[in-house]
Amino acid sequence: MPSQTPSNAPVKEHFRRKAFSFDALYNEQRFVQRRIRPGLIRRRQLAVDAVKSYDAPRVLDVGCGSGRVGEFVLEAGAREWVGVDFSDTMLQLAGERLERYKDRIKLIEGDFLQADIAGPFEVVLALGFFDYIPNSEAFLARMSELCTGSIVASFPGWNTLKGPVRKLRYELLHHVKIYDYTAAQLQKMFSDCGFSQIQIDRPGSGFLVHARR
Ligand SMILES: C[S@@+](CC[C@H](N)C(=O)[O-])C[C@H]1O[C@@H](n2cnc3c(N)ncnc32)[C@H](O)[C@@H]1O
Repeated sequence: MPSQTPSNAPVKEHFRRKAFSFDALYNEQRFVQRRIRPGLIRRRQLAVDAVKSYDAPRVLDVGCGSGRVGEFVLEAGAREWVGVDFSDTMLQLAGERLERYKDRIKLIEGDFLQADIAGPFEVVLALGFFDYIPNSEAFLARMSELCTGSIVASFPGWNTLKGPVRKLRYELLHHVKIYDYTAAQLQKMFSDCGFSQIQIDRPGSGFLVHARR
């Protein structure tokens, strides 16, 4: 029987409805962020460090959400930041947040695999993105095509304590299917795309990857 890729319509609808509450996570007190949601801040810092390691890079932010990472990346010296997302409400928030950088940003609304994106980019970001992606190899291959330097991406990993609650919350409550990864799988995915330096960290339950050509 041919395998079918699940529709991403529920993910799109979820992030259309939840744009404001997702964005508000970044407003939580530093203490709460550090103790309960350290991942959001850690992955943004990894993106900033990658951007700073290039001279005024062009940056593509896949699943850019409300532009919370874009803001830091532009501040860190990106000469251009292109954000792609299929949630109109997320992009509206991103446009408002990044208004002061309007000459250096471009927002593209659409599914990343179908979107018309003109590369190349020195840095490609995919933060909090692969959680919702069934055919991750195809998405990574497209990111790789557009990238001449670094990909910085986060991936969830299975956690015996938090995993079942997270699955129930997303899949039963929000009807959004989520995916977990292993370090071996990530190593293979990135090396299959031609990356030679693949740094994989597991600071909490998920993985942070910085892969360079
Ligand atoms: C958890 S949010 C992360 C937002 C941002 N990267 C951050 O770290 O703040 C994931 C985002 O990916 C977007 N997204 C998921 N699948 C997508 C796809 N196939 N094409 C474009 N955007 C997608 C969602 O709409 C959502 O805004």
